[in-house]
Amino acid sequence: MPDKSAKATRIAVIGTGAVGSTTAYTLLLHKRMSELVLIDVNKDKARGDALDMNHGLPFVGNVRVWAGDYEDCREADIIVVTAGAAQKPGETRQDLLKRNVKIFESIIENVTKYNTTGILLIATNPVDVLSYFSWKKSGWPANRVIGSGTLLDSARFRYLIAEELNIDPRSVHAHIIGEHGDSELPVWSRANVAGLQVDIPRARQEEIFQNTRDAAYEIISAKGATFYAIALALDRICAAILRNEQSVLTVSTLISGHYDLEEVYLGVPCIVDHSGVREILDLELSAEEQELLRKSARTLKSHIDEISV
Ligand code: NAD
Ligand code: LAC
Repeated sequence: MPDKSAKATRIAVIGTGAVGSTTAYTLLLHKRMSELVLIDVNKDKARGDALDMNHGLPFVGNVRVWAGDYEDCREADIIVVTAGAAQKPGETRQDLLKRNVKIFESIIENVTKYNTTGILLIATNPVDVLSYFSWKKSGWPANRVIGSGTLLDSARFRYLIAEELNIDPRSVHAHIIGEHGDSELPVWSRANVAGLQVDIPRARQEEIFQNTRDAAYEIISAKGATFYAIALALDRICAAILRNEQSVLTVSTLISGHYDLEEVYLGVPCIVDHSGVREILDLELSAEEQELLRKSARTLKSHIDEISV
């Protein structure tokens, strides 16, 4: 059994579909927490996943994994929400909004009934609008309501740049910001390797960005869903929170004054620590990038206007 003398660390994963179960498994492999609770409206799925993961504990070590209910969110340090409808081939992320807001109404109400101090980490799409909704609905301070934002898109971008330059993707510093979706933008003006500006011809840059932005459509049409890379991205955010890492991650956060924008959630580089989003970094953008970011924010605000909270 887990060491009861040490302070337990608990993560709750709500929604144990493709993204939720892969995230839970990734968290387990890295032993990010001592307690992992899986919650899904489909109780059999959560129970089956918990059993399956428990059978792997002899290879991983002591972690308490179980299928639970909202009461189990009470002591959670992080509540990762991946529940809800996913895109079918041809659908955009924003097409999911109405269906997933309905699901979030009850999820956020249930979580906040039992937990007042944890961090909500949202992955369900459209992630920026649902993070905004979760912030409003929970009444929690914005630093404790985080969306996975463009962390995944930035990882895809770094991977593609790394392939182009034939170097380790961890050595590429480059960001996708704005909506996690069709209006996102690449910050080429700041992309660098060891401080050296990335030197890729403009036409090829455009192809790399399009492949980044449209990656999910390609994967969904090939295999129905994306889940491995987002699981690693969510695991990375959890690590930064639980270990108080103060890491810079492009997560979705409330923008209020930064980048001359007001009251919208979108992805920008942030310092993430045990308090959640400790600080938003103000990237110096080119005039073209600033305009694209404003456009992305307008798109997101128009979707926020479609919902009531
Ligand atoms: P999925 O259909 O495999 O799983 C969704 C799960 O949510 C199911 O197990 C379902 O039973 C559960 N669920 C539905 N309503 C619920 C409720 N009220 N309470 C608890 N559980 C409920 O879908 P998926 O592929 O895992 O995708 C989940 C979400 O994650 C989608 O919205 C998808 O677009 C999004 N996603 C986001 C990113 C990102 O970068 N943010 C990446 C990949 C997928
Ligand atoms: C992604 C999901 C679908 O993989 O948002 O980008």
